[in-house]
Amino acid sequence: MMTQQEVLDLLREVKHPAKGEKSVVDLDMVQNIEVLTDRTVVTLAFGKRRDPLAEYLIGAARAALVRGGCPGPEVRTVVLDDERPAKKPLELGKEMLSGVKHIIGIASGKGGVGKSTVAVNLAVALARLGFRVGLVDADVYGPSIPTMTGTEGDMPTAEEIDGKQEIIPLEKYGVKWMSIGYFAKRSQALIWRGPMASTALKQLVLQVKWGELDYLLIDMPPGTGDIHLSLVQDIGIESAIIVTTPQNVALADVEKGVDMFRNESIDRRILGLVENMAWFTPAEHPDEKYYIFGHDGGERMASQLGLELLARIPLVQGIRESGDTGEPASLGSGPDALAFIDLARKVSEL
Ligand SMILES: Nc1ncnc2c1ncn2[C@@H]1O[C@H](COP(=O)(O)OP(=O)(O)OP(=O)(O)O)[C@@H](O)[C@H]1O
Ligand SMILES: [Mg+2]
Repeated sequence: MMTQQEVLDLLREVKHPAKGEKSVVDLDMVQNIEVLTDRTVVTLAFGKRRDPLAEYLIGAARAALVRGGCPGPEVRTVVLDDERPAKKPLELGKEMLSGVKHIIGIASGKGGVGKSTVAVNLAVALARLGFRVGLVDADVYGPSIPTMTGTEGDMPTAEEIDGKQEIIPLEKYGVKWMSIGYFAKRSQALIWRGPMASTALKQLVLQVKWGELDYLLIDMPPGTGDIHLSLVQDIGIESAIIVTTPQNVALADVEKGVDMFRNESIDRRILGLVENMAWFTPAEHPDEKYYIFGHDGGERMASQLGLELLARIPLVQGIRESGDTGEPASLGSGPDALAFIDLARKVSEL
């Protein structure tokens, strides 16, 4: 007859693909092993939140028992109460955020409105005002922070402290930066299945040694899906800034973004609206303003949604160029930089 230890060793072959290839044994999921003369019963424990890979793991565990020659292999499951901390060794806690005073999500209903641009420039502007700032690029599908900050190709280091990996964020322009882009090749398409993206994201926030920060900004991915909800809940995003462009058609999208935070199960404070690309100012005529997307769309949206309009950022070539060269516009002293500094001051007074 097999021993429990031998069965346990067989189960070490059963790796969880979404958890860094750790086995069900490492993950403490093996709740019980019963070895009888004609039956081998393994009980795997799952958390309350449905693991999308549960069926796969059950099948893989059974296959391991068959391969190992266990008589009458059977795999059962139990669902653990999430309240039982001893059985959840991999759950990432929020210890790394204990020195962080405010966590602010930068969101929008729609893509391409300038969330990342606003997030990066707000971060640099807050740092220029003397605040301690970090920024997480939560766009795990299309990370843009490495390019916008000229840190692509840099690789954050990790320390092992008390058996736990702690990632050290990159530092530049007085801001601590973290992005999945640092861990993936530039050309490599990032293809995640929903739950894997969520896990990766949580690690980018919860496994990073942020130290003492006044503000941790989260550059949210476009849209308003499940990944956003889990981000807000699991990381504890405290409040949000919504970015929009002034077009009329954008109102519906902004509403979606706003509803995401006002939703009763989420219920986070929205600090206000940032109207990006509010007008166009040509580089050679810095005093001229062309309202190519309409005149006071941002103002109207803000009042319709009961929000404060925190800033109006012009559409200037310099902002796009600085995004491409990795030197944020807010490092300078032009009107665009001042608009971001002004936004930073407002945010710090809220
Ligand atoms: N005020 C501005 N003036 C000029 N260019 C801008 C401005 N704001 C954003 N851009 C440019 O518009 C493009 C989209 O901006 P950005 O990447 O910040 O948008 P996003 O909302 O983060 O997009 P995504 O939804 O893909 O994450 C970039 O090339 C950026 O440089
Ligand atoms: Mg972006």
